[in-house]
Amino acid sequence: MSTTTSTAADLFRSTFGAEPTGLWSAPGRVNLIGEHTDYNDGLVLPFAIDSRAHLAASVRTDDTVRVVSAQRRDPDGGLPVMEFDLADLVPGSPAAQQWSGYLLGVLWTLRQDGHQVGGLDIALDSTVPVGAGLSSSAALECVTTLAASDLFGLGLSKDRIARIAQRTENDFVGVPCGLMDQMASSACTAGNALFFDVQATTVTQVPFDPESVGLAVMVVDTRVHHQLADGEYAKRRRSCEEAAAKLGVPSLRHIDIDGLDAAIAVLADDVLIRRTRHIVTENARVAATVELLAAGDMVGIGAHLDASHVSMRDDFEITSVEIDLAVEVAQATGAIGARMTGGGFGGSIIALVRQEDFDTIAAAVVEAFAAADYPVPVIRAMSPAAGALRDA
Ligand code: GLA
Repeated sequence: MSTTTSTAADLFRSTFGAEPTGLWSAPGRVNLIGEHTDYNDGLVLPFAIDSRAHLAASVRTDDTVRVVSAQRRDPDGGLPVMEFDLADLVPGSPAAQQWSGYLLGVLWTLRQDGHQVGGLDIALDSTVPVGAGLSSSAALECVTTLAASDLFGLGLSKDRIARIAQRTENDFVGVPCGLMDQMASSACTAGNALFFDVQATTVTQVPFDPESVGLAVMVVDTRVHHQLADGEYAKRRRSCEEAAAKLGVPSLRHIDIDGLDAAIAVLADDVLIRRTRHIVTENARVAATVELLAAGDMVGIGAHLDASHVSMRDDFEITSVEIDLAVEVAQATGAIGARMTGGGFGGSIIALVRQEDFDTIAAAVVEAFAAADYPVPVIRAMSPAAGALRDA
């Protein structure tokens, strides 16, 4: 690698006393629309954000993995190097329970798949906010998978990278997520949202450039992440599986809007009906959003963003008081559309706004949060960035 100035590369040099072989990065994501549809074989439309996990790495000659992160300082300010033996990695082990589990787990998953993967020295520097619902973990998994693919000559496609990253999260870390976040981090391209049809396994780049028409996507990180998030996510997943089983279909993807009333009659259970209605209507909203974007009608998608939020709030019950307040204030002060983004129970909202309204809406959200005694939200404009890349 020619000498590159980056925090990850500098950290690698100062920690391991050598040049890294390469430098890779992978982004977090926001989801424009299509929430909890991914594990129902449905439709999602995320885009990569320009906050990325950067990784500098070199292959070792043994099975040791050494990891250092610019974000993990000792109380005395030092940057500790964590050291693991690949042979000791097992799901549920202490290594899997912390941030390094996302990196180590990738190596474990690759080995499970029969790939010849050995030890690595790794320096990490991630700017993806943690706990904000912006997929900081998918960024870590995808950047590690891409780096390992290059360093060990595995030649993994973007699709394989996403799937290995997801399996790491499912089987090693123990979080039953779908494939959206990892696919977004791996396969997104700058200037586009990624229309991913999970059942068809097709990805389509949909041009999405709000700035070109005087708009912006505002992302409000509420900085509140409710403890129940993981357990409730798994519960939603189980409800969807239960509903599909009752309906005699492999997944809720097999129910479309026209079949919704008949499905509701069969389900005859209030909770299962509302969970199913969210998934079925959300898939329809993703499809409609993609059509509107293809027709150049960006303002037209606002109504679908709003409807998606109502569906998540009332039918899927995954929002929170902070999230609902941010959405309501954004809508009331001029947003074209607004909704929670990500898994739920806190995290972030997105609002599609006119550029000239950005500051007014942001100030109104900050003011409403202060009045409600909520934490000061972090508000940024985000536009579609590139997926995982080798940078040097
Ligand atoms: C989390 C999961 C994704 C997806 C979303 C909700 O981000 O990791 O797989 O299910 O929640 O859309």
